[in-house]
Amino acid sequence: MSGNLLHETVLKEEAVTALNITTDGLIIDVTFGRGGHSTIILKQLGSEGRLIAIDRDPEAIDDALELQKKDSRFEVVHATFSQLEEVAVSKSVNGRVAGVLFDLGVSSPQLDSAGRGFSFMKEGPLDMRMNPMDGHSASQWINSASEKEISNVLFNFGEERFSRRIAKCIVREREVEPILTTKQLSDIVKHANPSWEKGKHPATRSFQAIRIFINQEFNEIEEGLSQALSVLKVGGRLVVISFHSLEDRIVKKFMSAQAKGDKFPKDLPVTMDMLNPRLNLIGKPIKASAHEVERNYRARSAVMRVAEKTA
Ligand SMILES: C[S@@+](CC[C@H](N)C(=O)[O-])C[C@H]1O[C@@H](n2cnc3c(N)ncnc32)[C@H](O)[C@@H]1O
Repeated sequence: MSGNLLHETVLKEEAVTALNITTDGLIIDVTFGRGGHSTIILKQLGSEGRLIAIDRDPEAIDDALELQKKDSRFEVVHATFSQLEEVAVSKSVNGRVAGVLFDLGVSSPQLDSAGRGFSFMKEGPLDMRMNPMDGHSASQWINSASEKEISNVLFNFGEERFSRRIAKCIVREREVEPILTTKQLSDIVKHANPSWEKGKHPATRSFQAIRIFINQEFNEIEEGLSQALSVLKVGGRLVVISFHSLEDRIVKKFMSAQAKGDKFPKDLPVTMDMLNPRLNLIGKPIKASAHEVERNYRARSAVMRVAEKTA
C-alpha cells in the first residue's frame, strides 16, 4: 500500500481463509489500516465480488482511496464500528454480507508516527485519537479529568496496579505545568510507578488505558460486533483478531452469548429452537505461529475468533 509507514499485518492468511470467501462474495473489512487484509481479500474475490472497507483514521482512508481508484470492486467509507449497520444500509447490503473482519487495535503507522501521540517511545503531542478530527485529545482529557477518573481509567482499561499512585502524580505534576507531550506523560508515569514489569516499559499499561478510553474502544467493539450480526447474511462469517486480554474477553463473551441464544429461567423446559442462537462458533481460537511471532513481535498476543451466523 502507498502509506509512508507500513503496517505488518497479523494472521493475514488465516483471517482471510476464515472468511470463507467465494469469488462473488460481499465482504466488509471494518479495519482497513494499510490494507493488508483487504489486499488479500481482493485477490480471492472474482470480478463479481465486492469489498467495502471502513476505518475511522483519515490517514488510512487516504490510502484506501488510492486503492479505490484502481479497483472497481473496492470502496471505502470513513466511519466507525458503531456506524457499521448505517454504512451497510447506505450501500444497500444490510443482511447480505458474507464476511465481516475486525483486526482490532491500532496500526503500526499510528503507533510509529510521533505526531499521532500514541507512543511513549517517541516525543510528540499527547493526542492518541485514531480520528484527530473527533473528540478530545489525551492531553485535553488528562489536564482536566479528576484524579479519581484518571485512576479508574488506568485500572479498568490498563489493569494498572498502581493506578491511584500514578493518577495522584499526574494531578500534582499538571499543577506545575500542563501535560502536553508523550514524553512528559511517560516520565511522570515512569517516576510514579514503583514496580517495573520485566520486559515492559513502565508506562505501557497507562498509555494503553488512555488510548482505549480516548477512542472509546470497548464501546466501539461491543457496538460493532452486535451490528455485524444484522449486516451478515445467514451462513456469513464473523472474524475478529484481538491483541490483549481485555479486548478478547469482550469478543469471547459476545460470541459465546450469541452461540447460546436467548436466556430463559433455569427451570423452564426449552428446546434449541426456542433459544434462537444467532452464531455458531467455528473451531478454536487461533494464535499466530512461532514463525510469524519471530518475524512480527506484535503477533505474539494476537487471538483470532471465528463464528458463523445461523439465524
Ligand atoms: C490493526 S489496524 C488494521 C490493520 C489492517 N488489517 C492491515 O492489515 O493493514 C486497526 C485499524 O482499525 C482502525 N480502527 C480501530 N478502531 C476503529 C473503530 N472503532 N472504527 C473504525 N476503525 C477503527 C484503526 O484506525 C486502524 O487503522
